[in-house]
Amino acid sequence: MSPEMPLEDSALDLLRACHQKMRSFCVGCEKLVTAVAEGDPRAPGSAASVARYFREALPRHAEDEDESLTPRLLAVRPALAPVLAELEREHHEIVRRLPVVCASLDAIAVGQLEAPREFAREVAELVALLRNHIEVEETTWFPWVDTIPADERTSIREEMAERRRR
Ligand SMILES: [Fe+2]
Ligand SMILES: [Fe+2]
Repeated sequence: MSPEMPLEDSALDLLRACHQKMRSFCVGCEKLVTAVAEGDPRAPGSAASVARYFREALPRHAEDEDESLTPRLLAVRPALAPVLAELEREHHEIVRRLPVVCASLDAIAVGQLEAPREFAREVAELVALLRNHIEVEETTWFPWVDTIPADERTSIREEMAERRRR
């Protein structure tokens, strides 16, 4: 999601934008694996940008969901509890994997990646996890976001904006 967060966008619009960004960084990661294998001179620059996304934006998105969305979704739809608990567990799993991937990205950024095959495997696993995760979110709780009372949706949006001002 862009840091400016257009005012006319709803909480759901912003979440969708975060997921689109996640999808494009998944593709970017896969292209980077190829770029590294081919010695593409653009690899260091794109590795730095992917590392920045994984360190800054992705953990904030997980916080948006666990802290701002989940309690309000449970209030309108208690039956979502098991799926939301599983998705929160996946957030921890995703965040746990990021330092290893970011260490490889940092190495690519300075042209010193020693284990390209391991990087390819780390990327494949992370990307599969991310794609499956957002697919589950979009089909289970996304349809319920607009049933959250309007003032609560405004609070979600404000909390998301606040996280990006930190
Ligand atoms: Fe999530
Ligand atoms: Fe998400």
